[in-house]
Amino acid sequence: MAEPTVRLVHFSDVHLTAKRLGWRRRDFVTKRLTGWVNVKLLGRGRRFKHAPAAVAALMRTVRQRPPDALVFTGDATKLAFAAEFAAASAQLGVHDASLPPAVAVPGNHDYYTTDAAGQFERAFAPWQVGVRVDDAPYPFARKVGPVWLIAVNSATPNRFHLDASGEIGPAQLDRLQSLCGRLDGGVRVVVTHYPLRTETGALEKRLRVLRDHEAAVKTAAACGVSLWLHGHIHRPFVRGATAAVPFPMICAGSSTQTGRWSFHEYAVAGRDLVAVRRTYCPAADDFRVSDRFSLRLPGVT
Ligand SMILES: [Fe+2]
Ligand SMILES: [Fe+2]
Repeated sequence: MAEPTVRLVHFSDVHLTAKRLGWRRRDFVTKRLTGWVNVKLLGRGRRFKHAPAAVAALMRTVRQRPPDALVFTGDATKLAFAAEFAAASAQLGVHDASLPPAVAVPGNHDYYTTDAAGQFERAFAPWQVGVRVDDAPYPFARKVGPVWLIAVNSATPNRFHLDASGEIGPAQLDRLQSLCGRLDGGVRVVVTHYPLRTETGALEKRLRVLRDHEAAVKTAAACGVSLWLHGHIHRPFVRGATAAVPFPMICAGSSTQTGRWSFHEYAVAGRDLVAVRRTYCPAADDFRVSDRFSLRLPGVT
């Protein structure tokens, strides 16, 4: 009998914002101020000027050819303001029941300051449904056909203004191991914001790295993970399994950053994954096929 094919759409790092951010006095002493300078004065805002148009085109594609599930790997916002979460949730159709089921995790921009905790989870609640351990928010797993999408939170609020590093943490890794022990057969796919390696196989710089990458690789390998889907790096890439990371990783890149805007469509059948990258074409206001690649998923029988 032919293996059932599961179709996924993977997008990331949309960095949506709102006109009225709702600044409060205490925001001026947080990282938000540096972030705002970065957005307004140093060009980051310009790079995401067309983000709403790109997201609208992405959602049109999803509605025209609905996949079995959506996968969003974080950085919904720029500065984790409540107004930005509301805008992101509305533009991505998080509460639109006519869309396929989805799994979402926060990025470092969604945990920009310590007081941002919980906002992503509230805004994206319908995309955070799944099997959990001890009712902890992360990890959670949702089964789509024979594929387990395992959402892991790798974003942390960091005090130092330039610190964009992340961490899963020992407690969440322990829960990940317990969760994996409960899952039945199927392809296990981690959905998280941070990569384990860059495109070249190097670790990211100290201020951008997943701090507990070593423990993460070890736990994921012990859990029989076949694929690591992520964002954070704004250029899309794919890396096959290596001695250092024994499963492939796919970075969706940013789906909205001008000139880099893309997302991925995956068809998973047994141990085979066939991917299509679509890149936004502003003239056509549409995402066009720009690349194709395929992978053999390890550990799938
Ligand atoms: Fe990002
Ligand atoms: Fe990020």
